[in-house]
Amino acid sequence: MDITWDKGLKGRSLLNMRSFSDEEMMELIDLALALKARKAAGVRGELLHRRNIVLIFEKGSTRTRNSCIVAAQDEGGHAQYIGGHESHFGHKESVKDSARVLGRLYDGILFRGFRQDTVEQLAKYSGVPVWNGLTDESHPTQILADLMTLREVFGDIRGKKLVYMGDGRNNVANSLMIGCAKAGVHYVNCTPKELLPDPDLVRIAAEIAAKNGSTVAVECDPSVAVRGANALYTDVWVSMGEEAKTAERLRLLRPYQVNMDLCRATGNLGGELIFLHCLPAFHDAETEVSKDTGAQEVADDVFEAPFSKVFDEAENRMHTIKALFVSALA
Ligand code: CP
Ligand code: NVA
Repeated sequence: MDITWDKGLKGRSLLNMRSFSDEEMMELIDLALALKARKAAGVRGELLHRRNIVLIFEKGSTRTRNSCIVAAQDEGGHAQYIGGHESHFGHKESVKDSARVLGRLYDGILFRGFRQDTVEQLAKYSGVPVWNGLTDESHPTQILADLMTLREVFGDIRGKKLVYMGDGRNNVANSLMIGCAKAGVHYVNCTPKELLPDPDLVRIAAEIAAKNGSTVAVECDPSVAVRGANALYTDVWVSMGEEAKTAERLRLLRPYQVNMDLCRATGNLGGELIFLHCLPAFHDAETEVSKDTGAQEVADDVFEAPFSKVFDEAENRMHTIKALFVSALA
């Protein structure tokens, strides 16, 4: 089983969901599906032979970090992790200078951190492809895995309806809105009025969606939002770096929890409904963060239900990141 890639994404960076055209994004997901099938068939690739990728992480990670490491290694390449203050990056050396050094040493850079501007500067000055592994503003590599999971479940995803429940202005909500629009998936952002997404981004997403025959909406009432949904999606109520807002978020977002009543309100429970979550999730009291609150954004029975595809989605982080690396570097 051989994989060829000639779609012309060589050297390209993924800084936000608008970095690739709609067609390029869907082709990348096709590549991820092919890479996943190839790995399942036991065929080991060499598409990243002798390629070196650096992972610069200012924030913690389980999926993104390990997906990069396995993706590179599966194809004969290497991913080097540099966390927090382990290097001079951003405190003893400017981003611009570090970018120029790392670009001399590595074939690609994946960055996770706070400022969107940092990932943009890395791309501007390093001279190598740069991938955004999450910033305060966006989380594009996550959304590739989400769309891949929708593809696996539904085949043709155009015209399906995905409802995002929770913090309507966080990185995942922002990128998911653009990703769904590009894929022709109807997107509803269901959030309280205090956490509405940036209206400019909503307008841009709606314009993209219209080209692809779908719609983008913002709705504060959960039972109205979820009617007819094929996928319910949620994320933590407090993103990394916003911990000071915890009490306020718990108060605002409690009515937006994805639970069985909400799943029933879609009208599709037991039929065409899946649950997605980028993870990590607070679905029980088993974590340090949720030990006093219990389930937050998703009830445990939904998280553990057969229609919950969260672990397929997590695995797909690796296949989509591999596709990104391969398309840019192979
Ligand atoms: N979904 C996601 O980005 O997970 P990590 O924070 O574990 O990388
Ligand atoms: N919105 C979350 C996503 C984690 C993968 C955060 O930024 O913490």
